Amino acid sequence: MTRIAIIGGTGLTSLAGLEISGKETVETLYGEASGPITQGHLSGKEILFLPRHGYAHSIPPHKVNYRANISALKQAGAEYIIAVNAVGGITAEMQAGVIAIPDQLIDYTWSREHTFFDGGESGVEHIDFTHPYCESLRNKLIQAGQQAGVVFLDYGTYAATQGPRLETPAEINRLDRDGCHIVGMTGMPEAALARELELCYASVSVVANMAAGRGEGEITMQEIEQTLLSAMADVRKLLEALIEEL
Ligand code: HPA
Repeated sequence: MTRIAIIGGTGLTSLAGLEISGKETVETLYGEASGPITQGHLSGKEILFLPRHGYAHSIPPHKVNYRANISALKQAGAEYIIAVNAVGGITAEMQAGVIAIPDQLIDYTWSREHTFFDGGESGVEHIDFTHPYCESLRNKLIQAGQQAGVVFLDYGTYAATQGPRLETPAEINRLDRDGCHIVGMTGMPEAALARELELCYASVSVVANMAAGRGEGEITMQEIEQTLLSAMADVRKLLEALIEEL
């Protein structure tokens, strides 16, 4: 059974080095996932891969069917999910190109389908979210990254914003005061949905740009894409090292 899944974000719609053995469209109770799930081998292990924004990068953050994606991966047999997220850097250490493995998050998103526990016949359930990311998977990522010689930060509070627009500098100042280090549009409800289905989920967040008002001038998509392109080599190294360990 394939146990390890990777959800690719902006800059990671395909995985170099992945030997593809098939693609599977999984029907879910929640509608269509972002695409068929790719099955393949990386570092000699079977893995599943799903690009969050679709294979053509056509689904914006607020329109991703997070419930379908997480449900499809669960049905395909995933136990571990490593989510790759492009983010803006809020604090001084989170410069463009930095890789962070966040340990906390704050959810600022709204009007997204954010739970499998909608009451009715299944009753009322409340998951514990003290550690929003799976600690054992985070620790394995940290260990694998250190052994592989990848430079990264092993902490970070992720602010999940609604998008698709980027933030104002005043909003970034507020996130900073709230204690957030990085900001992205896709971290939630993905992490909570994974927890609801008892999947061990962690994020590899890649700083694509300094957040609004924290760098020079305006933020361009070109800058974001360029930074992600060069940082993805290290992300792949980290993922491969982890997969060998799992
Ligand atoms: N803000 C929100 N999401 C992002 C950013 C940002 O600055 N950069 C990449 N994803």
